Parts: sequence; C-alpha cells; structure tokens
Amino acid sequence: MKTWRVSSTNPSTESLREAAAALKAGNLVAFPTETVYGLGANALNEAAVRRIFAAKGRPADNPLIVHIADPSELAQVVADLNAVPPAVHLAIATFWPGPLTLILPAHPNLAPAVHPGMATVGVRMPSHPVAQQLIRLAGCPVAAPSANKSGKPSPTTASDVLEDMAEELAEGDGVVDGGACEVGVESTVIAVEGNRVVIYRPGGISKEQLQDALGLPVVLDPHLEQSLTSRSVEASFAPRSPGMKYRHYAPNAKVHVWWGNRDKVRQRMEEFAHAHGQEEMALITESPISNCPPNAHCWSALGEPSPSGDSQAKDYPVKDYQAKAQPVSTYPRILSRELYGLLRKFDRLRVTHILVEGVEPTGLGLAVMNRLSKASEGRMEKV
Ligand code: TXA
Ligand code: MG
Repeated sequence: MKTWRVSSTNPSTESLREAAAALKAGNLVAFPTETVYGLGANALNEAAVRRIFAAKGRPADNPLIVHIADPSELAQVVADLNAVPPAVHLAIATFWPGPLTLILPAHPNLAPAVHPGMATVGVRMPSHPVAQQLIRLAGCPVAAPSANKSGKPSPTTASDVLEDMAEELAEGDGVVDGGACEVGVESTVIAVEGNRVVIYRPGGISKEQLQDALGLPVVLDPHLEQSLTSRSVEASFAPRSPGMKYRHYAPNAKVHVWWGNRDKVRQRMEEFAHAHGQEEMALITESPISNCPPNAHCWSALGEPSPSGDSQAKDYPVKDYQAKAQPVSTYPRILSRELYGLLRKFDRLRVTHILVEGVEPTGLGLAVMNRLSKASEGRMEKV
C-alpha cells in the first residue's frame, strides 16, 4: 500500500500518474474530493468494485456513486442519455463540478456491483482538482463510496482514511493525500421524477439552491423527513437511497444534540455534564463556553483561529467549493467541514459522550442535522 502526497490545488500529472495507473489496473485508490475522501475503483471492473464492499464491510445492496472528470463522459455511464429530462441537464450545468449526485439510468458496461439489483446509477463530477486530475489520468469512470468502514464517520483527511483502511489496502493499492476536504459532508443525492426533484440524501448542495436553479418543486424523500422529526425510524419504511437505512456516521461515543435557543442549549449541556460527572465528554459549540465543565473537552467553532467575512451565508457558493477566497465563517459551514473529524478525534480520546450544539435544518444545515440525527441515533432535541 502506498501514499502519494500531492498539492490540493494544483496536483502535477507526475505526482498522480502512478495512482491513476493503479486505479485503472483494478486496484483500490482512496482520494480526496471536495466533500469527503472516496475509496475508488475502476467502475468497469467487477472484481475491483467488489473489493470496495469487502474493504468497507459495506452491505451488498448499497449502490456506489460513479465519478467522472467531465460531463462529456456521462455517455459512458448513463444509458439513453437522450431521454434524460432537461432538469438534469440544467442541474449539471449549474452545479457540476460539485457536491451533487444525480440518479440516472445505468449504462450496461458498468460493473454490476456498482448498482446491485438496480437499473439506475448515481453519478457525480467532483470539483476537487485532485479528484478531477486522477479520474482524467485513469481514463475510466471511478466508483467511490466514502473511504470509511461502513457505519463510521466519513474520512475528511488521508490519515482518517488510513485509520479505517490501512489493514484493508494491499500491495498495489494506495491513498492520495491531498489535504483536508472543504465541504466535509457528502454530496446531495437527487433524482428528477416527473416534474419534481426528490432529495434522497441532503448534502453539499442545499434544497434551496436546487429550488432556485431548477424551477421545479424540490421535496425530501419521506424517509428523510421522518428521520429528522421522530426518534425512531420504522425499519419497514424503505428509503429510496439504500444507504440511508443503515446506522451511519456513528462514533463509539454516544452523541447528543440540542439546538435552538443558545442559552438553553448551553444549559442542557452543562446539566448533562454535571449529571454524568464520572464520565468524560466532549462539547461542540458555536462560540466558546466560559466555564468548560471539568469532565469535558470543549471545542468551539469560533474559538478556533478567527474566521471573518460573510456572516450570513449558509450554503456553499455554487462552483466555489474550494472556497479559499471565501472565508468559511458561519457555524453551519464550519460544523459541516469539521464534524466528522471531531467525532473521530473524540473517539480517539475515548470520551463516553459527545454533546453537540446543532443548527437550523435549512441550507447546508439540513445535511449537517441529517448526519447528526444518524450519529446520535435520534438523540436530538430542539430547545
Ligand atoms: O460526496 C460523496 O457523495 C462521496 C464522495 C466520495 O463522492 N461519496 C459517498 O458515497 O458519499 P457513499 O457510497 O458513501 O454514499 C452513496 C449514497 C448511498 O446512500 C447510496 O445508497 C446512494 O448514494 N446511491 C448510490 N446509487 C444510488 C442509486 N442508484 N439509487 C439510489 N441511491 C443511490
Ligand atoms: Mg458513505
């Protein structure tokens, strides 16, 4: 297993040639995207794609997203491109490259394991320069789920990938280290059904952004509505995106989320920390807590090196996910970028509970709260 370290903004062909050749030849290569790290395999190679499932411990019925480097490559992965509705083309023109996955009819050349038992395939063109260059050099569509063990938080750095995958990756496989991911939660998964857009998984492109751009009603898959509003999701109620039915994004620690009135959120956290005085915990909040409880590690978004600028923005600006020029300054965006890394960090510290100040479930906040609802198994309360 190899690690290739590359520039995140301007990766040279030379630095990626070997990784791309490994990918093309049927090995597993993990790589950064603007959302999270993916565990990639040649999407036309059945044996390679099956190895993804083995490495992740992924349920066999959960389909993979196929990544391409240019919209012109769609014809290789989608059947009957001419029949695709205009709203899909508009979504591609508006949001690609970027964190939007489209569910489309699958091309027969794709390895069957990419979309087990389904006639459709999820496709996206990532905006991360390393992902684009790697796929281009490999010269094949790349199937890539998030590069974590099934059920664990997705990796947002190469060392997160190695934490989960070092033992699974063999000779010939490798990890491309292109630094930390900017968006931090996965892509939005959508399908255009009749004259509406259905969100199967909220992510880096918000419902509001889709509504503005596509001029069609945008609805959430009913399973998602339910998982955000009730404690337990009925097992019999099948979500449209198979991946959403599994326990997910979950650290070993128990996650608890409060959101709404800031003072009340703080009060609940302090009460909880006090009532569980014998246990070690972590607190994740927007601004620093003045009296961090003695049994807690306190992390705050605004307590870290001070961000500045656009205090209103909640969404990622379209096609600007690298966003270096746009300081990431709002709590939903910082939480989105940092959440998975924090869950992993506090697991390494072996805390028993992770208490999180949540956000309004609008804009990017919907994706963050969806992941938190999974990570907390429904331990969420609006106060
Ligand atoms: O941001 C992302 O999407 C990342 C990066 C690596 O691109 N990938 C990712 O893949 O999150 P994964 O496998 O962890 O999640 C894919 C989701 C799952 O919930 C899966 O069920 C759904 O997309 N999905 C894939 N193909 C589908 C299909 N044909 N129909 C419905 N849902 C599908
Ligand atoms: Mg995943």
